[in-house]
Amino acid sequence: MARKFFVGGNWKCNGTTEEVKKIVSTLNAGDVPSQDVVEVVISPPFVFLPVVKSSLRSDFHVAAQNCWIKKGGAYTGEISAEMLVNLEIPWVILGHSERRSLLGESSEFVGDKVAYALSQGLNVIACIGETLEQREAGSTMAVVAAQTKAIAERITDWTKVVLAYEPVWAIGTGKVATPAQAQEVHFELRKWLQANVSPQVSASTRIIYGGSVSGGNCKELAAQPDLDGFLVGGASLKPEFIDIIKSAEVKKSA
Ligand code: 13P
Repeated sequence: MARKFFVGGNWKCNGTTEEVKKIVSTLNAGDVPSQDVVEVVISPPFVFLPVVKSSLRSDFHVAAQNCWIKKGGAYTGEISAEMLVNLEIPWVILGHSERRSLLGESSEFVGDKVAYALSQGLNVIACIGETLEQREAGSTMAVVAAQTKAIAERITDWTKVVLAYEPVWAIGTGKVATPAQAQEVHFELRKWLQANVSPQVSASTRIIYGGSVSGGNCKELAAQPDLDGFLVGGASLKPEFIDIIKSAEVKKSA
């Protein structure tokens, strides 16, 4: 079953009005493969979502970087899934390690958020990944399986979920996972989905990699059989993001 290559740009907490204009015009001018080959989703901070959505080329879509765990109401500072739907924002990133570690979001909390966002019709980029300590202790697979299990226990429909494997030690560090390290975890995750969800979900769910992806390392990573795209942080703010989108061609010719 073909899994369309997916490239997400997570701008995190970056950008000014001027910078946003510049990045969007670079994206709009980019010569990239067609929508049949690659799905591109750009995730600016909440405040820039409407302007990015309205100025971005129509073959790219937008994502929020978070949303609330249930229906909105008296939750100061939160943004609800309903609001994203109302603004026609089709995607949301949930469970990013920066939120898990800095804000104490547990796997159960993330699982509940994923389930609620899906129930409202959003597409979800669900992030998982181990810390350096966990990797060095040999518990990488146990950690990512537990994080995935907390999601799997709460949802039945995986068609709107992209799983983003982002090893914490590779995020923003310039220390990218080797293609073999990434492939190993992606392969194990697919096996986990096969055994614990279904062979169909295992075969069709896109598992993307995030952590110091750049224009220079994307092609070699993209060639890995169980790697279906990227979630890009720092490089998504730069013109090299176009090269990362183009790495989808590696898959096409594989
Ligand atoms: P970097 O690409 O900056 O390492 O960030 C990855 C990431 O966290 C994307 O969500």
